[in-house]
Amino acid sequence: MYLITGATGSIGRPLVDALLAQGAAVRVISRDPAAAAGLPAGVDVVQGDPRKPEPHVFQGISALFVHPRAVGEEAAGRLVSAAAEHGVRRVVVMSAINVDEEPAHQPSRYNGDRNREVEEAIVQGPLPWVSVRPTSFALNTVAMWAGQIRAGDVVRGPYADFAEALVHEKDVAETIARALQDDALDGRYLPVTGPQSLTQAEAVAVIGEAIGRPLRYEEIPAESAAQGMVRFGGLSEPFVQALLARYARGAGRPAVVAAPTGASGPTGRIGRTFAEWAADHAAAFGGTGR
Ligand SMILES: NC(=O)c1ccc[n+]([C@@H]2O[C@H](COP(=O)([O-])OP(=O)(O)OC[C@H]3O[C@@H](n4cnc5c(N)ncnc54)[C@H](OP(=O)(O)O)[C@@H]3O)[C@@H](O)[C@H]2O)c1
Repeated sequence: MYLITGATGSIGRPLVDALLAQGAAVRVISRDPAAAAGLPAGVDVVQGDPRKPEPHVFQGISALFVHPRAVGEEAAGRLVSAAAEHGVRRVVVMSAINVDEEPAHQPSRYNGDRNREVEEAIVQGPLPWVSVRPTSFALNTVAMWAGQIRAGDVVRGPYADFAEALVHEKDVAETIARALQDDALDGRYLPVTGPQSLTQAEAVAVIGEAIGRPLRYEEIPAESAAQGMVRFGGLSEPFVQALLARYARGAGRPAVVAAPTGASGPTGRIGRTFAEWAADHAAAFGGTGR
């Protein structure tokens, strides 16, 4: 049986689905009983804080998934030590593709995420480990653009030529599911990306194709975009400044695309395209979905 933290979130839900689809038994520990109630039948839900689980939570568990936001920096080392003491044999942690960059260049740190520190605690811990390092989630485009797309055919934003190989959350989840089950991957950092580098302008056009509307990206100056993100997007000023600095550094350059998954297991690319992702999520942009 696999113990999953962060199971009520955007990666945890498809991770639970992927494990169940492969016939695995799943236990989830969540602080949020209402959200956990929406998990599929057959999941063993333990209500509790994943930062300080009771020992019985580890009973019958072979491998643990550590979600960096759900567990956090302070508890990660303690959690993996407790897991080892209670018979768990392996651990998979999620981190991010950019964790080796300067902290000031990682916008997520300004939201409080500590991917590097959580990963390091797992790597230094007593169990065989795998670190899954996704690039930007395709899901981010819902928060960034869905409001504008619902209101019209033009998305206004900075750096039209900033490119990403946006990854489908199911590809991240399936990579984690494989890493939990396959000890051939132990000791590896696995970057996970989508199969194509797309500029922001291209990604908006792909969403347009999925919802049957001629969407286009209109570049606006970074400073106006920043004001809008802070004033209307509810984002903090330091987060926005780190995000814009990241766009400025990468603009005009193709994004890194990880090597494809090989016969020996996931090496970084399962391969769902952004067009597939947009078709799966068309409803979020006012389309009819599939
Ligand atoms: N967005 C990206 O492009 C991207 C790319 C690479 C890496 N990442 C990293 O991936 C992580 C986010 O993954 P996600 O989208 O799956 O997370 P998420 O959906 O926001 O949350 C995952 C789980 O964390 C717990 N949680 C949520 N907010 C919390 C908070 N403020 N404090 C404590 N626990 C909280 C919840 O677990 P309970 O059920 O226990 O409440 C939730 O199910 C971050 O560390 C981020 O830096 C993101």
